[in-house]
Amino acid sequence: MKKTILKNAKLFYDNDLIKADLAIAGETISQIGLNLKGDNEVDLTGCWVLPGAIDAHVHFSLPFAGRVSADDFFTGSCAAAAGGVTTFIDFTAQKNDEGLIEIVNNRISQAQPDAAIDYSLHACIKNFSKKVENDMPELCKSGINSLKIFMAYSKTKMMQNDAHLYQIMKSCVKNNITLLVHAENGTIIDNLEKCHKLDCIEDLSKTRPELTEVEAINRIGFLALQTGCRVYVVHVSSAAGAEEIRHAALRGAKITGETCPQYLYLDNSKLVSPEGHLYSCCPPIREKSNNIKLFVSLEQALKVVATDHCPFTKEDKNSWGNNLNNLPMGLPGTETMLLQTLNGYFSKKIKLKTAINSVTKNPAKIFGMYPQKGSLLPGTDADIVVFDPNATTTIDVKNLNMNTDYSPYQSMTFKGKVIMTFLRGKNIYSHSKGFIGKKGTGRFIKRKAPSEELFYG
Ligand code: URP
Ligand code: ZN
Ligand code: ZN
Repeated sequence: MKKTILKNAKLFYDNDLIKADLAIAGETISQIGLNLKGDNEVDLTGCWVLPGAIDAHVHFSLPFAGRVSADDFFTGSCAAAAGGVTTFIDFTAQKNDEGLIEIVNNRISQAQPDAAIDYSLHACIKNFSKKVENDMPELCKSGINSLKIFMAYSKTKMMQNDAHLYQIMKSCVKNNITLLVHAENGTIIDNLEKCHKLDCIEDLSKTRPELTEVEAINRIGFLALQTGCRVYVVHVSSAAGAEEIRHAALRGAKITGETCPQYLYLDNSKLVSPEGHLYSCCPPIREKSNNIKLFVSLEQALKVVATDHCPFTKEDKNSWGNNLNNLPMGLPGTETMLLQTLNGYFSKKIKLKTAINSVTKNPAKIFGMYPQKGSLLPGTDADIVVFDPNATTTIDVKNLNMNTDYSPYQSMTFKGKVIMTFLRGKNIYSHSKGFIGKKGTGRFIKRKAPSEELFYG
């Protein structure tokens, strides 16, 4: 078998950068060592060789407020690959009371022809029933061992009440499933929405204040402790929310969570007319002081950066007609996630290993894909990013692969640049040629039981 050698770079290995070459044979990393020889040798002097990033939270082709998120599984894959992401985890949507297996099979049929990087799914529960519970063992056997529930969104009937929440958590424990939680107190939000006209973007923060997130995380943390359910809080937007996770974990709950680039780099000064609706997501972006504190939380309770990538075009967002009920919520992120996370290290907010692990090893371990994904260990998938730490990237929507026409990070400059991305040994992106992978070559990854070490308890 022909060997490609990535030479003269620094490799992220055993939580540090080391000087070594890396050999790729077929789809796997075959060797790491000094002065390796092969058929095709690539000189990467000055670059870093990192494990392909994992975006554990994306929404491709998601229907929301009468629109559909702008990236499908192909354009989303291209954008991800250009940002050094080689695996994404999307979601299924239960519309009525279908069983979990049926919905998963439908979503895989939708994803597989288009996916150009590897992928998995989390299964969302809207209506909890005996049928859903009975499907859980088979769901795990099929390689999906994470469910997602919402503590808000009552208008679309996605919100779980506390009784169902408790029941779902007990079923998760029985079936060794991790529960992903969208933590916002939906009842308080509903009540606040009655007190506001919802005709301006400023009402988004007024009706979804920080306390709604903090209370919901506090409640789910308590229930996690009582039930023993493994909980992963998605899109943590506030430092106070991250603190609730830390406290619950200190008490013995198995709980961790993710934050997203929008909460690390944006703040609510953007949420003003006339363009503020282009920055809308739930939970909303917060006071600026949260940015740095959330980075610091990545050294503590939060173990992952993922994106909640849910892009809409300006036209989609503009269709809201000054009514928050009609505003499709969500922001793009997957293409800039790795760069933005590494900049937490370059700007001295977090350690290098924290930055890299939070988008590679940690999501791989938490979601049962390690070491196949998220590592550079010999014998594992050759999912690799070549990153130039000495270059700079200025975000310009014109140069991005995602299928939308604005970036919330437009004109921001970050240190470093993604130079090449390899998926299972194949070069699928290069900075000079753009996306060079193929539609449909992404593989559904059957996930195994996760490692619990990153849930504090
Ligand atoms: O605003 C967001 N986050 N849109 C995507 C759906 C969700 O709640 O994750
Ligand atoms: Zn959510
Ligand atoms: Zn989401």
